[in-house]
Amino acid sequence: MSLRSTDRQWGSVAKFFHWIMALAILVNGVWGLLMSDMTPSMTKISVYAWHKSIGLTVLALFLLRLVWRAFDRRPQDEPGPHWQQLAAHAVHGVLYLMIVALPLTGWWFNSLRGFPLQFFKLFNLPAIAAKNEDLAKVAHEAHELLFWALLLVLVAHVGAAIKHHVFDNDNVLRRMLPFGRPRN
Ligand code: HEM
Ligand code: HEM
Repeated sequence: MSLRSTDRQWGSVAKFFHWIMALAILVNGVWGLLMSDMTPSMTKISVYAWHKSIGLTVLALFLLRLVWRAFDRRPQDEPGPHWQQLAAHAVHGVLYLMIVALPLTGWWFNSLRGFPLQFFKLFNLPAIAAKNEDLAKVAHEAHELLFWALLLVLVAHVGAAIKHHVFDNDNVLRRMLPFGRPRN
């Protein structure tokens, strides 16, 4: 498998970005939901710090992914109705927006609350907004709602991938799977 994508197959770099980010986003979202219910302790502070660092890693990976995508090729759409191809591209666009909006609203909320922000204890990052408790409530809602909205969009995204694989028996999922190859 080559690093770069071809007309028929995603390359290993695009696959790496897709699967590592999907895993990180889902784990971090569930982590975020669970950590909010913890009783205050030193462990809670460290669990929050991990959540923020993983989220910032997603943001950094997003930027790298965009740069790579700009230079990489993209597999051609599998044959199928035009509306399905349009819908797939629209869903991918929405997913990209959510990938960037999730960490940014987290960072925004963190800043509005006046919390410090460190990347894996390596270096500090600045606040992106001044402290404001009223706005912090809005940012908190936006941050959480975005994750639920992402799960909803994922139902369509994953549902379509499974439909292509099981019912259409085409290469859409196969060419994105870590060790998958197009069949014909
Ligand atoms: C948080 C989870 C996920 C996110 C944010 C996500 C996001 C994306 C994005 C943005 C693309 C478009 C890639 C591009 O054009 O550059 C894509 C493609 C794809 N995703 Fe996901 N994805 C996630 C999870 C999954 C899962 C769980 C599956 C399968 C069960 C899956 C299957 C696919 C497939 C097959 C493609 C390629 C579609 C094609 O070749 O036209 N994704 N995904
Ligand atoms: C992939 C990226 C991220 C995802 C999927 C995500 C998801 C979530 C979710 C689902 C919650 C639970 C909301 C609640 O129940 O209250 C949460 C909480 C939180 N997130 Fe994130 N987050 C991400 C990135 C970030 C980043 C980058 C930061 C900060 C720089 C951040 C800061 C926070 C904070 C401080 C909370 C706790 C809110 C509270 O006090 O209840 N998140 N996150």
